[in-house]
Amino acid sequence: MGFIADSLNRIQPSQTIAISMKAHELKAQGKNIVALSAGEPDFDTPDNIKEAAIAAIRRGETKYTAVDGIIELKRAIAAKFKRENGLDYKTSQITAGTGGKQVLFNALIATINPGDEVIVPRPYWVSYPDIVMLAGGIPVFVPTTLQNKFKLQPDVLEQAITAKTKWLIFNSPSNPSGAAYTETELKALTDVLVRHPHVWILTDDMYEHLVYDDFVFATPAQVEPRLYERTLTMNGVSKAYCMTGWRIGYGAGPETLVKAMQKLQSQSTSNPSSVSQWAAVEALNGPQDFIAANNKVFKERRDLVVSMLNQAKGLSCPTPEGAFYVYPSCEGAIGKTAATGQRITSDEDFASALLDAEGVAVVHGAAFGMEPHFRISYATSTGVLEDACQRIQRFCANLR
Ligand SMILES: Cc1ncc(COP(=O)(O)O)c(C=O)c1O
Repeated sequence: MGFIADSLNRIQPSQTIAISMKAHELKAQGKNIVALSAGEPDFDTPDNIKEAAIAAIRRGETKYTAVDGIIELKRAIAAKFKRENGLDYKTSQITAGTGGKQVLFNALIATINPGDEVIVPRPYWVSYPDIVMLAGGIPVFVPTTLQNKFKLQPDVLEQAITAKTKWLIFNSPSNPSGAAYTETELKALTDVLVRHPHVWILTDDMYEHLVYDDFVFATPAQVEPRLYERTLTMNGVSKAYCMTGWRIGYGAGPETLVKAMQKLQSQSTSNPSSVSQWAAVEALNGPQDFIAANNKVFKERRDLVVSMLNQAKGLSCPTPEGAFYVYPSCEGAIGKTAATGQRITSDEDFASALLDAEGVAVVHGAAFGMEPHFRISYATSTGVLEDACQRIQRFCANLR
């Protein structure tokens, strides 16, 4: 018997983190590397949020807090759900954790029994299947296509549901594709879910605020109130508020679920950082106008990247509605050979040869369960993006 638990052998380290680390290492060796692999905004946390944290430290808010969040934070979260999503949650229905990731982790570990199925649309955020498998559950992958812009279709969802289905994990706007569902598109999916009352919905709304071209965000419990009793609406301050390092995420749903998640957290990490919680209170209650200003920049970058990638030989890239990612297909490059002599048989080969030949770090699509694609994060300066896209164009032009 090995020393390491069997459950850990079911999972892999996060591939997106691994690629970002490789890019850092190459940079440290003095190589000219452009990393488009990290999933975080390049903007700094707004000053009013930093000041709120500093004030909290000065006031001595440096002790343990309630396990899943101070009441001030839960009130700020409840107010956010009411104001932005028209959803009513009592503070007893709200839980805050160390990043959105812990909230997802708590929800899945607290509910999955061995053999339970969890529907995960492809392409997916890297952590969903691994957390499901760690819990002993079975991720049931359902396909999307580039033609319908990576959006789950109602008939495909319906076919995937079995008596063992426990959750659907829904993510809009999506990491890695940037796809976001309109209210109409979402309603078509919630209509299916209404017919299957044993299926719960875990909606990851982390990129809610990062939508462009007047796109209107919608979330399942808002679109279909009949799903309220079996939906966990998850969100956080990491992306829109440029607070990835502060580690605050939250969720709201039925009290029985929230209590179970709280119990798990009480025996693992206890409260998220007290100082970060006060910063998140300010993020949610304070001025929101910087989000629109940041989005203007993100939209320009998205348009630049989509246009330049579509000019690269063998690539095809739809325009996503949100997040700060694009997910082009590199099908036209498969079967070719790079100038470095590397043969490209998969998107992993494509990403690896691109890094070797041109020093551009992207994440291959296999990491997100849909090939042959790769993910670019455009949360970096316009100059860097232009340089990176020129390198990608040159790389593709040199493929033989
Ligand atoms: C879709 C999605 N959900 C959840 C998270 C986790 O967010 P946090 O950094 O708050 O844990 C991320 C972060 O990359 C994400 O992309």
